[in-house]
Amino acid sequence: MNTHFSFQGFDTVDLAKKYGTPLYVVSEDLIREKCRAVHESFLDLYPNTEAVYASKAFLTKAMCKIIESEGLGLDVVSGGELFIAKEADFPMGKVIFHGNNKSLEELEMAIDYGVGRIVVDFEEEVNLIEYLAKAKEKRVNCLFRITPAIEGKTHKYIMTGQKDSKFGIPLELDSLKALVESTLKSPWITLLGFHFHIGSQLFENHIYDGAIQTIGRLAKELKMDQGMELQELNVGGGFGIQYRGDEKTKSISFFTELIMESVTKVFGGFELPVPKIIIEPGRWIVGEAGITLYTIGAIKKIPGIRTYASIDGGFPDNPRPALYGAKYDALIANKVLEEKVDVATIAGKCCESGDILIWDLEVPTLDSGDILAVKNTGAYNYSMASHYNKIPKPGVLLLSAKEANIIVKRENYRDLIQNEEMPGHLK
Ligand code: LLP
Repeated sequence: MNTHFSFQGFDTVDLAKKYGTPLYVVSEDLIREKCRAVHESFLDLYPNTEAVYASKAFLTKAMCKIIESEGLGLDVVSGGELFIAKEADFPMGKVIFHGNNKSLEELEMAIDYGVGRIVVDFEEEVNLIEYLAKAKEKRVNCLFRITPAIEGKTHKYIMTGQKDSKFGIPLELDSLKALVESTLKSPWITLLGFHFHIGSQLFENHIYDGAIQTIGRLAKELKMDQGMELQELNVGGGFGIQYRGDEKTKSISFFTELIMESVTKVFGGFELPVPKIIIEPGRWIVGEAGITLYTIGAIKKIPGIRTYASIDGGFPDNPRPALYGAKYDALIANKVLEEKVDVATIAGKCCESGDILIWDLEVPTLDSGDILAVKNTGAYNYSMASHYNKIPKPGVLLLSAKEANIIVKRENYRDLIQNEEMPGHLK
């Protein structure tokens, strides 16, 4: 009997041995399953809809290829993300470019590449886009990101839709109307519609309702005042996943059914045509498709207090527990059949007391050298990794039907100094 944790048919202890730890492991099949669910429960069900994957959750060139082959678009939020999409030959017409402070260079890059839409995040950005578009004689499709003034129930750092937010154009009707009016006159910008993003790791579907009503009202006013036809409404992402416990992650239709019902009701009520609805899931697509493997080293028992089991990674490859108090589930990959007789706190190797990956995890008797598999690390782990304490970043292994391929090489110490230069007087 196999006493090892198997992930998508691969023995994770063998993977740890072969590729070393820490190691991000991502399953292509699980990502594709989620993309297909987006087709079945959203794109195929409702006409005039689009789904773009929020690449900030996890982005590599290989991921772009998977997303492209699944027929989804890509949301990028920086020149770097845009560059990776371009390097992967991602169809630029299916790229949506976000950002609350895009530089002129980034906007120029987006216009040169011919991205499908730029999402305007603040008033003056319209002028920057207009200036560049005119100089390049290229018409640019835009959406306006509106702050819907809605608080999502999630960690404060990943709420975005509330009134007091650095994201989006505030819902001040007069100035917004003036901005729409001037943009509609621009020969260089096509204003297709609006975007909002309430926040991330949301579990309430009705929260989208309020924002849709707000945009519906706005669309009605703009139609009456300026004859604007709202062609597109991008409702952002934010669909939450379960990180631990027995509760299952909600299906995508839990969110999209309500969104579509609400859109139909609200726009119908205002006697407006239903615009194209765009969703932007990130975490929901990739979060559950990834695990991280670590090796346990030091085991410290403080009598009557707690046992710390330290791993060969931590905060630099997963800052989410320290940043958001995120809680993960994990198991000892080489001891899956052993009874959990102990409780250990999994500590990272950083010089930082806050570097605790998991508090009080039930475990079998631990030994140094055990392999820890942390579940659901596919989203915002690799993408938020840092070099704190000069720890090289782990590699990323992509598991496909029958093969495993490294899609990002493990860094080495040389990589840590590749951009350093020594001033002459210090040589
Ligand atoms: N669209 C926009 C405009 C966004 O800002 C985001 C996420 C998404 C879509 C995708 O959201 P998702 O479906 O993945 O929830 N680092 C944080 C998450 C930050 C999310 C930022 N924006 C974390 O680790 O939880």
